[in-house]
Amino acid sequence: MSIFLKDWRQVAVLSSTWSLLLVGLVVWMPSNASPQELRVSEESFGCILDMPKVRNTRFKHADPEKLKEAMRIFRSSEPDKEYPVGTILQLVPFEAMVKHPHEKFPKSNGWEFFALEVSETGTTIIDRGDDNVLNVLLKAPCLSCHQPAAKFDFVCEKGHGCAPLSIDDQTIAELQKADLRWTKK
Ligand code: HEC
Repeated sequence: MSIFLKDWRQVAVLSSTWSLLLVGLVVWMPSNASPQELRVSEESFGCILDMPKVRNTRFKHADPEKLKEAMRIFRSSEPDKEYPVGTILQLVPFEAMVKHPHEKFPKSNGWEFFALEVSETGTTIIDRGDDNVLNVLLKAPCLSCHQPAAKFDFVCEKGHGCAPLSIDDQTIAELQKADLRWTKK
């Protein structure tokens, strides 16, 4: 009997040591591991027509729940909301915004702007970054136009304070339909 009890005590001591170790690991891990790097390459972009849309804007996220969250934030147009890291937004096939953690691009709260070239064979990244990327047609930096919408996490849409685009909704829809990447399938 006494042996039995002793064993149980040992098990109890051992398992509490393990729980302490586990708690220690859980506490230790996030502070030591570097935040997951979001890698964005030409393969990250696909045909804009495969992406779900809200009004004019197309959405992509590897995690279906975060995709829903991004679409919900956009739809409700609420200020002071942040899009989930990993969100890709596109209005036209040749431009994109990708959300990284804030520290990666502090000037744009983590957004990286992309100028893309699109063909039947896929996507080529022409330029990427925060304040250096130019809109090819307008010759204006992406960030300069998107800056007034900082309260809406730099998403311009309509009524968020950005200078309007020179193209109307119908032209935007036509540009989306003209995405050549669908022919690749
Ligand atoms: C002349 C100002 C201007 C410039 C320059 C500009 N944008 Fe925009 N952008 C807008 C406006 C306005 C909208 C909203 C259009 C709409 O939904 O009708 C928009 C929409 C977008 C959207 C959809 C999400 C949103 O913010 O509404 C993306 C993605 C985007 N732009 C990326 C870019 C990228 C990348 C560049 C640079 C290569 C760029 N833009 C340059 C004004 C601009």
